[in-house]
Amino acid sequence: MSESNRPKWSGSLGFVLAAAGSAVGLGNIWKFPYITGMNGGGAFVLVYLACIALVGVPVLLAELYIGKVGQANAVLAYEKVHKEKSFWRLPGALGLISAFLILSFYSVIGGWILNFEWCSLLNEFGTRPEGEIKSMLSDLFEDPTRQIFLHSIFMLLTVGIVLGGVQKGIEKWTKLLMPGLVLILIGLLVYSLFLPGFGQAAEFLFLPDFSKLSWEGLLEAVGHSFFTLSVAVGVMVTFGSYLSKDDNLPRMGFSIAIIDTVLALTAGLVIFTAVFSYGIEVDTGPTLIFQTLPLLFGKMPGGYFIAVTFFLLIASTALTSTISILEVVVAYCTETFKAPRRITTLIVGFAAFAVGLLSDLSTNLLSHVKIVGLNFFDFFDKLTSSLFLPLSGLLTSVFLGWVLGPRAVDEIIRDTGFEAYRKTLLICIRVIVPISVSIILIMGLDWLWPA
Ligand code: TRP
Repeated sequence: MSESNRPKWSGSLGFVLAAAGSAVGLGNIWKFPYITGMNGGGAFVLVYLACIALVGVPVLLAELYIGKVGQANAVLAYEKVHKEKSFWRLPGALGLISAFLILSFYSVIGGWILNFEWCSLLNEFGTRPEGEIKSMLSDLFEDPTRQIFLHSIFMLLTVGIVLGGVQKGIEKWTKLLMPGLVLILIGLLVYSLFLPGFGQAAEFLFLPDFSKLSWEGLLEAVGHSFFTLSVAVGVMVTFGSYLSKDDNLPRMGFSIAIIDTVLALTAGLVIFTAVFSYGIEVDTGPTLIFQTLPLLFGKMPGGYFIAVTFFLLIASTALTSTISILEVVVAYCTETFKAPRRITTLIVGFAAFAVGLLSDLSTNLLSHVKIVGLNFFDFFDKLTSSLFLPLSGLLTSVFLGWVLGPRAVDEIIRDTGFEAYRKTLLICIRVIVPISVSIILIMGLDWLWPA
């Protein structure tokens, strides 16, 4: 595809909303609250904020820059910026594979969320006995047909939006979904203000107690800063390639990171208010929103309405994330194979759905199949989050900081009004990111050698 007929954003608002839509997802509303709960609250939140600023944002800016200058898909952009076919395609290629795998299992989780939305609509949290509510997730895991059906609906929604293209699909829908989810979150926050646990939740999140912070928590915060900003999977390179020459990268990058962080903190506040108000343990882990919250919804005043809006919120955030991941692969395939965009979208969507079936079946019919001791779902998750993502992010930072060098950082910053940030960005991208990400990369590899 020639540069002139590549898609473009209609303006910076469309871009920022689409990129923030990608960033805001299950990572904010599901994972951030539960890892904060497991890591003791305030001190972890502080470390997380530092990681966003010192690790996540620099890589985010690097990717936007590579996309904007390369004006090509996630793999080719690296090459074009480097001006030759080279080793430096690798971070892009790793990102592309991760995007495809993440799409396959993220849409499976999308299906679970649709399941809980459906149960909310039928008022099952209000009417069924506690034991049944608690086992809803495991019941779903044991029912392949139901999982596959819901997963296919979620994938159809994703494909349907991306079929519309960049402006008429992704932009149009994120402009609708993002304000919608912000409104829902504000509504839930106002409701939380009236619950008795609000003060305790605020204290838990914002009063740091460093004695509760562990090394594992620190590493988890670095890793999560990547995941939550959707970096290292080619999304920001692809989205950056639809920008124009004079777009202000630091302003856009900061806006995306601020929206993502504020929404994660708000979601945390809402969820912990519910948890403290009803005297539940804060460290229940991944089942927090699928077991603990449904139980609470059944008890709260107005719980029916809260449950319906809460799962609608999560479904929307998951959808704005899956469309961005699909776009990465679609952009790559249309440009590489010179294929028509709509047909490519259908094929990639179907292929990701097909690979996702392995995740659907990993808790039932195929639960006995293990790769390095993990079922398919856990394997895809681990492979991307513990290996490909950090590796791709590490290579991107080395590429920008050491291969392209300070000149690239100058170009990111020049004439943007953020000149004072130049030095910090250079230090982060050359030293802080490579060191911290190398550490999580090495520490995170123990799963490859199961005992
Ligand atoms: N940022 C998303 C979230 O917080 C998760 C995610 C990681 C993602 N990588 C991505 C989403 C790539 C879209 C594209 O949930």
